[in-house]
Amino acid sequence: MFPLPHPHQLHVSLVLFVPVVCAIHMAPAAAGVCSKEGAQALLGLLQRVQSEALRALGPRDFDPKLYVDLPLAADASAAAAALSSLTRPAPSREEMEAFISRYFAPAGSDLVAADPPDFEDEPRGFLPKVENAEARAWALEVHALWKDLSRRVAPDVVARPEWHTILPLPGRVVVPGSRFREVYYWDSYWVVRSVHRGLLVSKMYDTAKNITLNLVYLAEKYGFVLNGARSYYTNRSQPPLLSSMVLDIYMATGDMVFLKRAFPSLLKEYSFWMSDIHNVAIMDNHGRVHNLSRYQAMWNKPRPESATIDEEFALKLTSTAAKEKFYHQVASTAESGWDFSSRWMRDSTDMTTLATSHIIPVDLNTFILKMEQDIAFFAELIGDNTVSESFSEASNARYNAIESVLWNSDMEQWLDYWLPTDGNCQGVYQWKSNLQNHNIFASNFIPLWLNARHSGLGRFVDEAKSVRVMRSLQASGLLHPAGIATSLSNTGQQWDFPNGWAPLQHLIAEGLLSCGSAEERKLAEDISTRWVRTNYVAYKATGAMHEKYDVEACGKSGGGGEYKPQTGFGWSNGVVLSFLEEFGWPQDKEIGCSL
Ligand SMILES: *[C@@H]1O[C@H](CO)[C@@H](O)[C@H](O)[C@H]1NC(C)=O
Ligand SMILES: *[C@@H]1O[C@H](CO)[C@@H](O)[C@H](O)[C@H]1NC(C)=O
Ligand SMILES: *[C@@H]1O[C@H](CO)[C@@H](O)[C@H](O)[C@H]1NC(C)=O
Repeated sequence: MFPLPHPHQLHVSLVLFVPVVCAIHMAPAAAGVCSKEGAQALLGLLQRVQSEALRALGPRDFDPKLYVDLPLAADASAAAAALSSLTRPAPSREEMEAFISRYFAPAGSDLVAADPPDFEDEPRGFLPKVENAEARAWALEVHALWKDLSRRVAPDVVARPEWHTILPLPGRVVVPGSRFREVYYWDSYWVVRSVHRGLLVSKMYDTAKNITLNLVYLAEKYGFVLNGARSYYTNRSQPPLLSSMVLDIYMATGDMVFLKRAFPSLLKEYSFWMSDIHNVAIMDNHGRVHNLSRYQAMWNKPRPESATIDEEFALKLTSTAAKEKFYHQVASTAESGWDFSSRWMRDSTDMTTLATSHIIPVDLNTFILKMEQDIAFFAELIGDNTVSESFSEASNARYNAIESVLWNSDMEQWLDYWLPTDGNCQGVYQWKSNLQNHNIFASNFIPLWLNARHSGLGRFVDEAKSVRVMRSLQASGLLHPAGIATSLSNTGQQWDFPNGWAPLQHLIAEGLLSCGSAEERKLAEDISTRWVRTNYVAYKATGAMHEKYDVEACGKSGGGGEYKPQTGFGWSNGVVLSFLEEFGWPQDKEIGCSL
């Protein structure tokens, strides 16, 4: 069981080793070759190219991200001069295309293919429980996609960082795919997971470590793990799963050198999430004060990679202050990984009502509690018992906070909590039951995942309670023929109904699986079966793995959102391989949709 809490000792001991400072005052990078001014100047130029391109090409099929990904192929001042002399008010398509090919290299050319040396076509001991020949052949094709998605930064990026928005990561990378040409933070967890789970015997540990050490490098340099490895992602993070990656690799390899290398970055990242901008204090009805975390980007301008879209939404806002507030919420929503969703909107039909930094999210606090448990476990391994105890205490305090502030015993779910949007967001808020968000989201069930005893620490939910949560999930309306829906509202946003996302299927199924009862195991397997089938059938129909799926019908990929649906796709591949590893696929089980 979960050990007894000692919340009062927590901060006394924490301050001893984690400086309670805002990691957002980013120290100048020690080893930084790339000057911040250079990076900002390039971004400014690329954003001017982006808006010029919109004028030249029109809004149809326009992807603003393409332009901030362009590497320079000539001196920035020459490119800037040529940009200024393009025809007014709008250059023709031909003129724009000629300008871009003259001064820029193709988007994506800043990364080059890199064969993972530890890749094998059919690793020994690959998915031993997958007996069905069709399922097996497909799993091998999905496994082979790791080769397609493997890259390293091009030599030119190291030689001339000021020509590139890609950040010079030291190791090999696995990208999600399509327009997501660079490393993403939380996506990487499901890539690493499958690398270590599915390919345990083939020992793709080097690849998993390369991926994870790149994120460690970002934490060392910026004080936190960036949303992604581009200079336009330096002001926000993403759901924090670095400690989970480190843990999985350590459990597979026992590599203490790797663990010690990653450990200081985990402490750094932790203080980022405990800093003033993320930490919120809530007083419950018994007068106990709890600390929980929220998403909050350090940014109040249009996101460079989506500037033309953000500016369009901001048109209806008149004052500069209102626009800045909106841009801040947009970037904070991107930090949540759920961009965009009715979950973060006061009015689900109006993007300008995004209020992410005024919400205490269930999933974020689940991930941070996991981080606290992981750090406690690592510190014990390293032999630092003081740190280990402090982090156990921190995780106990967060356990109490989640149960007091987010748990709802009528619904038998954990609910996001709304903070007042007026006032200055300082001080201690009084808990009120009507401030829990009673809408149903897949994230309401993610704390079950803490039962998966990754680091051998305590259980989060006891068996009786987990069965009640399972019943609540079954009655929630989220379970559909092709998986778990993200929410119940069809808003046209991509993190809403009817889209289902691989990480959410995996976190919930893995949680249920670890809860213990036969019924929960069966539901976990059922979710996995539906998900694997829909991925398989869509793959057969389109030749690709998709970023998201429509859970209403088997074999249908997802839609909605601010960009065209993408294929590739890192976390979808990772989750399918993890499910097949866990549950196998018997000889006589149909893999198509018919059953
Ligand atoms: C990446 O993996 C290679 C082996 O394939 C290894 O030599 C290298 O040190 C690793 N780099 C990092 C940053 O982990
Ligand atoms: C954004 O991040 C950059 C790079 O770390 C930093 O220099 C800058 O101060 C940050 N901007 C804001 C508004 O915090
Ligand atoms: C919550 O955070 C505040 C400010 O960092 C600290 O003083 C307090 O002790 C914390 N409370 C708990 C229960 O962790």
